[in-house]
Amino acid sequence: MKKNKIIFKDNTGNQFEFKIMNGSSGPSVVDLSDFYAKTGMFVYDPGFSSTASCQSEITFIDGNKGKLLHRGYSIEDLAMYSDYPEVCYLLLNGELPNVTQKKEFIEVLTNHTMLHEQIQRFYSGFRRDSHPMAIMVGIVGALSSFYSEKTHDFTSSVGKWVAVTRLLAKMPTIAAIAYKYSLGQPFVYPNNDLSYSENFLHMLFSTPCGNYRPTKNRVDALDKLLILHADHEQNASTSTVKMAGSSGANPFACVAAGVASLWGPAHGGANESVIRMLYKIGNEENINKFIKKAKDKNDVFRLMGFGHRVYKNYDPRASVIRKYCHNLLNELDSKDFPLLKLATKLETIALNDDYFISKKLYPNVDFYSGIILKALGLPESMFTVIFAVARTVGWISQWKEMTNDLDSKKISRPRQLYVGKKKRKFIKISKR
Ligand code: CMC
Repeated sequence: MKKNKIIFKDNTGNQFEFKIMNGSSGPSVVDLSDFYAKTGMFVYDPGFSSTASCQSEITFIDGNKGKLLHRGYSIEDLAMYSDYPEVCYLLLNGELPNVTQKKEFIEVLTNHTMLHEQIQRFYSGFRRDSHPMAIMVGIVGALSSFYSEKTHDFTSSVGKWVAVTRLLAKMPTIAAIAYKYSLGQPFVYPNNDLSYSENFLHMLFSTPCGNYRPTKNRVDALDKLLILHADHEQNASTSTVKMAGSSGANPFACVAAGVASLWGPAHGGANESVIRMLYKIGNEENINKFIKKAKDKNDVFRLMGFGHRVYKNYDPRASVIRKYCHNLLNELDSKDFPLLKLATKLETIALNDDYFISKKLYPNVDFYSGIILKALGLPESMFTVIFAVARTVGWISQWKEMTNDLDSKKISRPRQLYVGKKKRKFIKISKR
């Protein structure tokens, strides 16, 4: 018999019954939405390790088996047979597009790649040495003043589609200008004759004095990276976007909040930290010293690119990227092979170490993504920016799903276990 309810009993004999909900895959959940009403208590789960915050049809992760599916399709198949715009369409609409649908979707994305000329002026307000993620947070947030509630109804399907398509189309342009600004080079306008990933590389690397044309291998490498980072269910940045969106805030402002959340080294910032860590390690002889530091409870150092809240097995994205990494460096005739060699050695040592085995700490996607981005010629500070461009579709698909779902229309408002001072009498300043 399938379990359909769970009974909680406290030590005084009071009994409370809660419904069990079953999804199409993965663990069932206990519906605790009326827990407070029934028991007068809140549920405590800091870090949300045991909390399902919503129902979703978009992405499924089996962390124990190392599986990742988007709308039922495996990440391995999508990386092998699809391209980034097609994966975007799938995440947003639930189905892979047919030829006409794909053509129309790409047409919309390519027709909205340009930024309003006024937005370009925002960039000069940033310090020249700003981290490009700081610029991303600012510029994406600023888009909310160009797509405001005065002119768009973001509760309507038309308004939602405007938000979705403009964000997807403009993110590479915003990111490329942030990069050009850091170099002091002229901004490069999008070229709508190019594919999504080719145009992104064009805007990043073209200059008025050269004839830059990315090779097919480079375009493919970037496209695969974008696919692998496209969505990852209710991660920190996606939950941030949804939390902001639950109040009915402007979707461009919500995505800016997601960019901020992604920036941290425990999340999207890990790809940047991995490369910095590999440089610090320097050579194979030093690996054991750093493994020892990672295991030391009194040392804040962690092996970056290792561990994941959900994956307690090899991150499937890391398996895909690892396979491509070697081929790509070969094809790109890259000078970054020593870095890959060092990463592979570090991985082997860590995967045979009791500490990492017992805590189920495996390499995650970002252990290898930085090496590819380096081989493409990008500086470390741009790595998380590329992740943000890729994840925009995940953020906005999940935002769209949430705003379409009547059950999720409630504002997200967690409670707390208060451990501060009880009510006390005010003391006038002269008496303190
Ligand atoms: N190196 C050394 N020890 C680690 C590491 C690591 N990378 N990750 C986790 N641990 C230890 C941690 O010290 C803890 O030990 P103990 O139980 O003795 O206190 C145990 O493993 C559990 O760690 P946790 O921090 O409670 O686990 P979490 O699920 O809250 O954190 C994580 C997940 C990804 C934040 C963490 O593994 C980490 O900081 N990894 C390095 C950063 C990183 O690579 N992040 C990218 C994640 S993938 C890309 C993305 O989705 O954003």
